[in-house]
Amino acid sequence: TLLTVLCTLAAYLIGSLSFAVLVSRSMGLADPRSYGSGNPGATNVLRSGSKKAAIATLLLDAAKGWLPVFLVRVFGPAHGLDDTAVALAGLAAFLGHLYPVFFRFQGGKGVATAAGVLLGIAPLLGLATLLTWIIVAGFFRYSSLAALVAAVFAPFYLVLGGGIAWPRSTALVAATVVMAALLVWRHRLNIQRLLAGQESRLGSKKKR
Ligand code: G3P
Repeated sequence: TLLTVLCTLAAYLIGSLSFAVLVSRSMGLADPRSYGSGNPGATNVLRSGSKKAAIATLLLDAAKGWLPVFLVRVFGPAHGLDDTAVALAGLAAFLGHLYPVFFRFQGGKGVATAAGVLLGIAPLLGLATLLTWIIVAGFFRYSSLAALVAAVFAPFYLVLGGGIAWPRSTALVAATVVMAALLVWRHRLNIQRLLAGQESRLGSKKKR
C-alpha cells in the first residue's frame, strides 16, 4: 500500500542520519570517518576519547532503528499495516544507516541500529541480543566480534520465541536474516583483522 511505501521511505530517511558524524560535529570533535577504523559508529567514536559522544551515538543510532519499527508496530494495525510493514520499516532504517542518502551513501556497520530495530520488534528479543553482545564483548573485548555473534544469534532468537514471546512472522525473520547478512558483510575487514589477531580491543585508541 501507499502507506507502507511512505513509512518505509521515512524509516530510510531517519536511518540515514549518521549520528556518529552529527554528534561529533556538534561536540566539536573530529569526524569519525577520519580516524581509527574510519567507521561512523559508536565504537569508533569511542576511539576519539569521548565516552559521552560514543554513548550519545550509540543511543541515537539505536533510537533511529527503534522508532520507526515501534511506531509501525503499535499504530500500523489500525491503518491496515501488518508485520510486513514493520519488517520493511526496520530494514529501511538499517539500510539508511549503512547507505545514508545524506552522507554520500557512506554509512556505518549497523550494529546499534539493528539493536534498535530488534528492540522495536520485541523488547525481549532486543534484550536477548544485547545480552549476547555484552557477554561476548565482556569475554573478548572486541566490539566487532560481539556484534557478529549477536547478529547471527538474533534470527534464531526470533524464530525460537515466535508464537511464544512475540508473534510468529516470516517477514520479520526474513528482515532479521537480511540485516545479519549485511552486518557480517560490512564487518569483512573486521573479520580479517580478527583472524589476523590485529583487531583493536574495545576502548583502545589505536587501529591498523
Ligand atoms: O559498531 C561497529 C563495530 O562492530 C566495529 O566498529 O570501528 O571497530 O570497525 P569498528
